[in-house]
Amino acid sequence: PVPIPIPLPPSWLPFSLFPLPFSRMMDTRKDFPTLRIVTHPLVQHKVSILRDRATPTKIFKELVEEIAMLMAYEATVDMSLQETKVETPLESTVGRQLSGKKFTLVPILRAGLGMVEGIYRLVPNARIGHIGLYRNHDTLEPVDYYFKVPGDTAGRDFFVLDPMLATGGSAASAVSSLKKAGATRIRFLCLVAAPEGVRKLASEHPDVVVFCAALDRELNSQGYILPGLGDAGDRLFGTR
Ligand code: PRP
Ligand code: URA
Repeated sequence: PVPIPIPLPPSWLPFSLFPLPFSRMMDTRKDFPTLRIVTHPLVQHKVSILRDRATPTKIFKELVEEIAMLMAYEATVDMSLQETKVETPLESTVGRQLSGKKFTLVPILRAGLGMVEGIYRLVPNARIGHIGLYRNHDTLEPVDYYFKVPGDTAGRDFFVLDPMLATGGSAASAVSSLKKAGATRIRFLCLVAAPEGVRKLASEHPDVVVFCAALDRELNSQGYILPGLGDAGDRLFGTR
């Protein structure tokens, strides 16, 4: 029997061609050309629990993993596939499998680490790089202290992970480091974004699509997102 051909999604679409709606993403292209907000009800429900100051560390950590997994489902919707022969218990058929180089997840330390496990459960053969950055509390400028990603960067899909996109300094610096290492296909996944951060990342890296679960109102004078969820690293790791 000849299998009915199902059109495969194109491989990495440039943002300008990113079709809408892929599923449950809000179109914010007019004001924020690089942004996609994942509006799935499960994501929105879980983000509200995450914001609650009374949510304990254990639940916070579990929710970050779950939301990251759900967001990755949306952010990988256009990954390319190739046909593969499969023997079912009854007959041969043609299935589809992901093609190309393995995805690489790149958490920004520390808080990005909280997003890795959930996505890794979806894509167990992903590679994992690390970028160490922290914000100087006075200047809010990112200070980098660690960088390690797989060597063969060309043609690889990178997903930079950080729950918070505030001023955008950390994200822009992480993406610049990745590009310096040769990466060309980069997406940024965060949970809560501030308009300032989305604009900064878009102005420095207009080719990087940003997926978030919420676009919040603004930053306060200390660079915290309002209403936000507080310090993501501290809430994940119980350090305050
Ligand atoms: C937080 C967060 C981002 C950064 C966002 O990390 O996890 O990396 O701030 O802020 P920005 O958009 O203004 O750069 P932080 O610097 O607090 O580091 P830590 O979690 O390792 O303490
Ligand atoms: N980093 C955080 O963890 N939270 C914010 O609101 C801003 C930056």
